[in-house]
Amino acid sequence: RLDVTEMFHGISFPGHLHTQESLQLALRFPFRDTDVLIVSYPKSGTTWMQEIVTLVANRGDPHLNQTVPNWTRAPWLEQYYSAAVLEASSPTKRTITTHLPHHLLGPALQGSKAKVIYVSRNPKDVVVSFYHFHKMANFLPCAGTFEEFLNKFLEGTLNFGSWFDHIKGWTSQMASMDNLLHVTYQEMSLDLHGAIRRVSSFLDCPLVEEEVNKSVQHCSFARMKNNNMVNYTLIAHEIMDHSKGSFMRNGKTGDWKNMFTEEQNQYFESVFKSKMHDCTEFVWE
Ligand code: PPS
Repeated sequence: RLDVTEMFHGISFPGHLHTQESLQLALRFPFRDTDVLIVSYPKSGTTWMQEIVTLVANRGDPHLNQTVPNWTRAPWLEQYYSAAVLEASSPTKRTITTHLPHHLLGPALQGSKAKVIYVSRNPKDVVVSFYHFHKMANFLPCAGTFEEFLNKFLEGTLNFGSWFDHIKGWTSQMASMDNLLHVTYQEMSLDLHGAIRRVSSFLDCPLVEEEVNKSVQHCSFARMKNNNMVNYTLIAHEIMDHSKGSFMRNGKTGDWKNMFTEEQNQYFESVFKSKMHDCTEFVWE
């Protein structure tokens, strides 16, 4: 069966991609100061940021984006294949991705100057995107009804754990880590040009206007939807069933409004308020 779960430190991970060993290795990973680490809770804009970081590193030239799958150019640290990919990758400029929460990965990053980009998204859109993804990804547990799925999201029992713990854990480091940049999906949607500029300056790769414009073009939703290197159509049908949906689904902010009932929204708001009462800066439409 594909949809087995690997429990690790009380969080479930898809067993198709994670082993106890690969998760343990991630926790002891020897980061280098030259590494760029993209961190996100699933469905928050991970793939979009992987695309941006590759474009920035290549000054807007999309050659790598169009020829190397994202899981090879920015592998997920905790997945079983990453050790081999990272070993074979460039000794200097490594881009690594992770969905691990800060309480698990923080110790490995301690003292490192690796640059960390934290990507977040309106949690209501995250849960809707994750729900649709569960329907097509055969390596994830059965989604059930949206109501059941939403309750699990709010309880923190879906694969990859609690969204609340994830965002609070990573963003609480903002004050003490000057090598941490927080970019939101909303910001990328509203001002992709500005977001790319912010990422390029954070990575010390200043781009000229034309290079930023090229990057903007290549990481538009329409381009990425048609790029086999990021739209997951290279993955076998038994693993991701493309007749049940598409990874690049609609790429919008506020899609939750088409899914949530008024009651679900009120319940979400009350849970959000109680869990995030100490974090006033997070406001989403
Ligand atoms: S994953 O599985 O964690 O790697 O997923 P992730 O990449 O974080 O999130 C997938 C959602 O991001 C949307 N996406 C984009 N939106 C707008 N523009 C661009 N270029 C883009 N690239 C990816 C993708 O469509 C998923 O969101 P939904 O709402 O399901 O469409």
